[in-house]
Amino acid sequence: MTNDASGLAIESDALTKQFGRQTAVNAIDLAVPQGSVFGFLGPNGSGKTTSIRMLLGLVQPTSGTVRVLGERMPDRLHTVLPRVGALVEGPAFYPYLSGVDNLRRYDSADRFASSRSRAARIDSALERVGLSNAAHKRVHAYSLGMKQRLGLANALLRPRELLVLDEPTNGLDPQGTREVRNLVGGLAAEGITVFVSSHLLSEVAQMCTHAAVMSAGNIVAQGTLAELRGVDTDRVRVLTEDVEVAVQTLARLGLSPQKSDAGPTAAWVTAAVLDKTVAPEALSGALMEAGVRIRAFSVDEPSLEERFVALTGEGFDVVQ
Ligand SMILES: Nc1ncnc2c1ncn2[C@@H]1O[C@H](COP(=O)(O)OP(=O)(O)OP(=O)(O)O)[C@@H](O)[C@H]1O
Ligand SMILES: [Mg+2]
Repeated sequence: MTNDASGLAIESDALTKQFGRQTAVNAIDLAVPQGSVFGFLGPNGSGKTTSIRMLLGLVQPTSGTVRVLGERMPDRLHTVLPRVGALVEGPAFYPYLSGVDNLRRYDSADRFASSRSRAARIDSALERVGLSNAAHKRVHAYSLGMKQRLGLANALLRPRELLVLDEPTNGLDPQGTREVRNLVGGLAAEGITVFVSSHLLSEVAQMCTHAAVMSAGNIVAQGTLAELRGVDTDRVRVLTEDVEVAVQTLARLGLSPQKSDAGPTAAWVTAAVLDKTVAPEALSGALMEAGVRIRAFSVDEPSLEERFVALTGEGFDVVQ
């Protein structure tokens, strides 16, 4: 394990990448705690892969800096990369070689990997990703999901401190997706930091301890999943005909109510209850005391989905 004093496996400062006049990644400050499973969540084209390429030293940032395992990238590439396993969009394999032969090629190109334990390491990596049965099949006959698994096996060939996985479940069926999730859980239990990008909110919600949300090249939120959910925030919703009285009553309790139409007579009045400062019973009590006729009333926590849609202004695909 690294003994970097910051406790961060990845730390970027105003990391930026421009392609011509387009800013693909805009001054992002990533803080990925050691030992976390960190979800890098964002819709298509939001800059995930470009960020990952910069932190792996595959492309040069336009400006800003990034440290990986305490070392500046890309300056310390040769020291850092042996400690990092990576799966980036479209891993390149030789189509007319089998899965196991492809891994042999990659492994023998790794000057830190001992050749004596090579066969055993390759077998165990293939087994971990569920490819043992297809190990001797040529890669051109692999499905997209199988290629993705082979890419994962490649990232797992040697013990690593950090795994960087760009959309590892791309092309996998629900069963394969579950397997990847379990695999990531197992790696995290071994103390490995996992940085995993996804455009699937449910995936991040299920396997990550922390996340950053990207939108159009910017990080719009970052923290533990609980922080991102806003667990200290309740949301009250009232469906009523007495809209103005409801708004005034909630405002008197220190909230900032919003109203939205729900038909010719009634409307929804909603408000966030930051830090849960007002109890649900106090809210309903105050509304009834003010004579508000309540058709529906609820107090709940906003879901991750609602938070992220609010943050990015877009919906995320949801895996059922
Ligand atoms: N080599 C390049 N040259 C020009 N523009 C690029 C290049 N690579 C990426 N871009 C642009 O940068 C933006 C971010 O792309 P990026 O691939 O990082 O997004 P992403 O979040 O990984 O998306 P996806 O979910 O589709 O993989 C996009 O608008 C893309 O078109
Ligand atoms: Mg991408």
